[in-house]
Order: sequence, then C-alpha cells, then structure tokens
Amino acid sequence: MAIFFLLLCWLHVVHAQLSLPSTPFLPPPATSGAQPTTQGSIPNSQWSTLLGNLLYFYEAQRSGHLPGTNRVSWRNDSALNDGSDVGLDLSGGYYDAGDYIKCTFPLSFTIMSICWGATDFGGGYDLANQTVYLDDMLRWGLGWLIKAHPSPHTLYVQVADANLDNAYWGGDLNIPQNRPSYQINDTSPGTDAAAGASAAFAACSNLYASRSLGPSFSTPASLQNSTYANILLTHAQDLYSFAINASGGKQTYQTAVPQAGTAYASSSYGDDLTMAALFLAWATNSSDYYSHAETYYAQYSLAGQNDVFNWDSKTPGLSVLFAQLANLGAGFAGNLSGWQAESERYFDHILNGGGPSYKTKGGLLWYPGDSDEDSLNPALNAAMLLTRYAQIATTQDKAKNYLNFAQSQLNYALGNNPMSAPYVVGSNPNSPANPHSAMASGGDDISHIDTSPPQEAYILYGAVVGGPDPKDRFYDIRSDWPETEVALDYNAPMLTLAAMHVLNDTSDPFFTRLQAGAFAANKPSGNPCDAAFNCHSGSGLSTGAKVALGVVLSLIGSAIIAAGTWYYYNRRKGAKGTVIY
Ligand SMILES: *[C@@H]1O[C@H](CO)[C@@H](O)[C@H](O)[C@H]1NC(C)=O
Ligand SMILES: *[C@@H]1O[C@H](CO)[C@@H](O)[C@H](O)[C@H]1NC(C)=O
Ligand SMILES: *[C@@H]1O[C@H](CO)[C@@H](O)[C@H](O)[C@H]1NC(C)=O
Ligand SMILES: *[C@@H]1O[C@H](CO)[C@@H](O)[C@H](O)[C@H]1NC(C)=O
Ligand SMILES: *[C@@H]1O[C@H](CO)[C@@H](O)[C@H](O)[C@H]1NC(C)=O
Ligand SMILES: *[C@@H]1O[C@H](CO)[C@@H](O)[C@H](O)[C@H]1NC(C)=O
Ligand SMILES: *[C@@H]1O[C@H](CO)[C@@H](O)[C@H](O)[C@H]1NC(C)=O
Ligand SMILES: *[C@@H]1O[C@H](CO)[C@@H](O)[C@H](O)[C@H]1NC(C)=O
Repeated sequence: MAIFFLLLCWLHVVHAQLSLPSTPFLPPPATSGAQPTTQGSIPNSQWSTLLGNLLYFYEAQRSGHLPGTNRVSWRNDSALNDGSDVGLDLSGGYYDAGDYIKCTFPLSFTIMSICWGATDFGGGYDLANQTVYLDDMLRWGLGWLIKAHPSPHTLYVQVADANLDNAYWGGDLNIPQNRPSYQINDTSPGTDAAAGASAAFAACSNLYASRSLGPSFSTPASLQNSTYANILLTHAQDLYSFAINASGGKQTYQTAVPQAGTAYASSSYGDDLTMAALFLAWATNSSDYYSHAETYYAQYSLAGQNDVFNWDSKTPGLSVLFAQLANLGAGFAGNLSGWQAESERYFDHILNGGGPSYKTKGGLLWYPGDSDEDSLNPALNAAMLLTRYAQIATTQDKAKNYLNFAQSQLNYALGNNPMSAPYVVGSNPNSPANPHSAMASGGDDISHIDTSPPQEAYILYGAVVGGPDPKDRFYDIRSDWPETEVALDYNAPMLTLAAMHVLNDTSDPFFTRLQAGAFAANKPSGNPCDAAFNCHSGSGLSTGAKVALGVVLSLIGSAIIAAGTWYYYNRRKGAKGTVIY
C-alpha cells in the first residue's frame, strides 16, 4: 500500500505535464523526406514528421539539467549554475541560437507565437500526435520564464554576456562559467521585455485554458490544464503591471541593461504593450485590458504601418488579433470590419509589392535590412499571419490570394527555390549540412569553424536556418551566420504553418519532389557577400558592416571573420538598424 502511494506521488511528479510516450517520436533520417506519400489523406505523414522535427529542434536547444526523457542523445546537462551570481536558480530554458546565451525578449516572442498558433491551428498538433511534445517544449520555456520572474517587478532578461559567449565555440560540456544574469526591475524597467513576457504568459494561459478562437479556426491543441493556465495568468498580469506601472517609467530594456541590448536591442514598446493587453483581455474577458490595447494602439500610432513582423516588431500581428477577437464575438471586442480593413490594407500592400518589402527573383518576400541576416524569418512570419488572417478575410478572393501567397513563401522555404534547398536541417537529402550551431558542429576551434571537423558532428534535425541572400543564393557555410545560423524564433512560424498543413493538406511538403543532388548541383562556389564575409566589391554590405569589416580586415587580412567578440554584435542589426557599430 505504501509502495502504491509512493508510486502515485512519483506519478504525480512525472505527470506535471502530459506523459511522453514510451516509444518517443524521433526524426527519421533525411532520406525519408525524399519519399513522396501516396495515401492522399489527412494527416499527411510528411507534414506530421515536419511538425515533429520542428519541435525536436527546441529540445536540442535546451539548457540546464536534462530530464530522463531527453530525446537528443548528444546533448548533456549544461550551465547548471546560471543565476548563482544573483542567488537564484536560473538554470534551464533554451539557448537562443547557435551559441549559449539565453535571451528573454526573443524567447518570449517565440513562445507567444507558438502558443497563439497552437490555439488557432492546434488540431494539427493533435492529429500529428505532437501535442505531448508541444506541452513539453512550452513548459521547458515557460518554466524558465517563471524562474526569471522571481518577484512581480523583477525580470531577468539575459543570462551570459553576448560578447564573452561569442568568444567561445565548442560543445556543451565546456561552456565558460562566467555567465552574468541581467535583470530589469522597478527602478530600471524594460517596458518591452516585461510586456513581451506578459504576452507570452497570457497567450499560453489562453492555450492551457483551451480558449478557442471560434468556428473559423481549429480547436486548441489538447493540453488543457486550468491550474497551469492560472499560474501563467498570474505571471502575465504581474508583468503587465510592471510594464505599465514601474516607478522608473517606460523605456526599452536595453536602456536599463545595455549589456543585454547588444544581441536583441528593441526599437519600441508600444507594440508589446498592445499585444500583452489584448491577450490579457481575452484571458480575463476584461474590457479594461481591451481598452488599454485600443489606447496604446492609437497612442503609439500603430495603424498604417508596413513593417516586418518579427521578435522586435509585433505591430502587424495586432490588427489580426484584434480582428480574431472581434470575429469571435467577445463581449469586450471592437469593430470587426475596422480591424479587417487595417489587416487587409497591410496584407494587400505586401501582395501588391508596395514596399518596403519586395520579392526576390526566386520569389522570397524580402525586407531590406530585416531580411539581411535571417531572410526566411520575415517571409515565414508573413506567411503565418496571412494564413491565419485568411480564415476571416472579407472576401473569398482575398482569402485565396492570401493563402496562395503564404503557400508560395512556405514552399520557397521547403525547397521551391533556385537552390532546390529545403531550409530545414535533416528533412531531406538536399537540406543544409552546415548549420551555424556550436553544439551541433562538434568543433571547438573558433578560428576553423568551417573545417574542424569537416563534417558537422550531429544533425540538428528540424532547425530552420537563416536563409539565402537577396539573389536567392545559399552557400551552406558553417561560419556564415547570416545564412546558416539557427534560432528559437526562426522555427516558430513554420511550426504554426506546419500545424495548419497537417490539418488541411493532403499533399506533401514541397521537398519530397526534389531530385537527389539538386542542391549540391546548384550551390554556388566561393563565399557569400554578407556581414560574415568580406565580398571585396563591398556591394551588398551595410555601411556599418563595411566599417566593422574594415576594422577587422585591416587586422587579420581577408580571413573568415569568425573569431572573437563582435560577430554576434551584428547578428540582428538588420532588425531596425538600432544596434551600434
Ligand atoms: C496541471 O499543471 C499543474 C501545474 O504545472 C501540474 O502540477 C498538474 O500535475 C497538471 N495536471 C495534469 C492533469 O497534468
Ligand atoms: C497517432 O497515434 C494514433 C494512435 O496511436 C495512430 O493511429 C496514428 O497513426 C498516429 N498518427 C501519426 C501521424 O503518427
Ligand atoms: C556531450 O557529451 C559527450 C561525452 O559524454 C560528447 O561526446 C558530446 O559531444 C557532448 N555534446 C555536446 C553538444 O557537446
Ligand atoms: C535593477 O536593475 C538594474 C539594471 O539591471 C541594476 O543595475 C540594479 O542593481 C537593479 N536593482 C536591484 C535592487 O537589484
Ligand atoms: C497601475 O497603477 C494604478 C495607480 O496605482 C492602479 O490603479 C492600476 O490598477 C495599476 N495597473 C495595473 C495593471 O496594475
Ligand atoms: C464575458 O463578459 C461578458 C460581459 O461581462 C459576459 O456576457 C460573457 O458571458 C463573458 N464571457 C465569458 C466567456 O465569460
Ligand atoms: C466599423 O468600422 C468601419 C470601417 O472603419 C466603419 O465604416 C463602421 O462605421 C464601423 N462600425 C461601427 C459600428 O462602429
Ligand atoms: C483548407 O483548405 C481549404 C480549401 O483548400 C481552404 O478553403 C481553407 O481556408 C483551408 N484552411 C486553412 C486553415 O487554411
């Protein structure tokens, strides 16, 4: 009896989340992505596998003590002392990208995006049997965000220094121990980071409460847990009041913590405040939060913009969420046709090539600046918003055009491009072989990232890479972080799109049609012309990159710029041009 009781207690601990299957889902070899399916039914097994692989990537990015259920055999416990400098346990969470820093602002955006997509296209996770892994992935991230929010007006926004971290290239066993923890607080606030984390908690609270967006959409992924939804809601509300009521006022988080702004400097906070208020309005059925959202939207002049949608720039998602809540008929919500008009203005502008975005010759939606160092991300984020919004467009014609455009971008990312490269690692034999990931590379020689070892040690299944250059060329060079780096936010929109395709697509993802060896035949020789490489002519480089290159090249000749502290500096400078040179 006692043993039985102990067993129950143990089960209770283990069952703090959905139980993982005893035979885990593991990504199949890339060759399986070259085998077209024949069944023509839903769910299509290739889409289900892609969804599973995209989630698996996050498991490879885990920091901290790995549980017995860890599926990534080549990962080890790491960075267990995070937070010890401030007397807290900040171990866990996810490494941001190809290196080992942990960044709250882009993590919050990633989690918000995934929870939103698992709410309106959640049935796709269920059909693919991936909901348990979705739950596991979200709890690993949210659990860390909870630790990073130890009191209502304190949020840790980064662990480890970007410059120090980028001086290290190697596996997860020897990560440099000096990993400072950076916080925002009541007197040194960060309105965007607090509101961004609030939006993530609130969006996920809605998912765990199984709140549906109504008959225009799918059901939320089946991971309902009202206890957890309430825990998340409390954090969302506390962070929101921190964002709007901190005694230090309102400011960007890098103003409070300049060290944390080098990798992901934020350009504004009006979008973050509006998004947090909207998800909170929905979570609490409250017209107070809703009127805050309307007020911020007007106060920060968010209507009429044509910006990219990404970790820094959330405005294009707002009119879509406003419209979804109006379409749902929520009592607090506003005028559907007004929000439809603003959403369609924004989307039609993209489809009509109204700028600043345009389409590359190969068909990729390109935002000058924002696309320079992660070209697939703006296009996939647009595809995700278009696919979502199409469900509530004013006319069938518009819906069709939006879905077609979204499909063209997703197809591009999955191999319908001049390289014939599906830009998801391990999904097809034509996938990139050299993602910029210190842990997957197996190398520890920062001056020979590309050759040591010659072949990447581990296949980083499911990782979406940065993407091609504006001439649709992709070089697949490990040190070329603008094209080959992986990151938490890169995978997020493709997850939501894949979930939709699991729900609704009998035909395969594009890559099953690719010929063997197609990418190898198309791959350009030589080096790309981007922020990681000198391109001699200088064309295609931003002024800032030229200055940086000039400085470095004068020191080390024309060698590949991989070593040292500053390459991360440039990583996301395209985002808004806010990062310093
Ligand atoms: C619901 O979530 C809470 C909080 O994480 C957890 O303790 C509990 O075990 C979960 N319940 C179920 C049935 O999974
Ligand atoms: C999901 O699980 C069910 C029940 O075990 C199984 O019949 C089905 O084939 C699975 N679907 C996928 C896509 O793995
Ligand atoms: C994990 O540890 C093993 C040795 O136990 C090592 O071979 C492997 O490369 C390590 N993984 C990483 C990502 O460094
Ligand atoms: C508040 O945050 C600032 C910026 O990170 C930091 O310098 C300061 O020490 C923090 N205040 C407290 C009381 O921890
Ligand atoms: C912000 O502070 C005001 C004034 O103290 C208070 O009325 C309001 O409830 C606070 N807002 C939040 C969201 O905590
Ligand atoms: C939301 O609040 C409105 C008005 O206060 C009420 O009529 C409605 O039933 C509530 N909806 C939910 C889902 O609780
Ligand atoms: C809703 O918005 C549309 C477009 O902005 C406007 O023409 C209409 O009058 C509004 N309706 C209501 C009830 O406010
Ligand atoms: C599913 O496909 C149909 C027709 O192909 C389309 O009308 C519908 O909008 C699609 N659903 C989603 C979620 O895209």
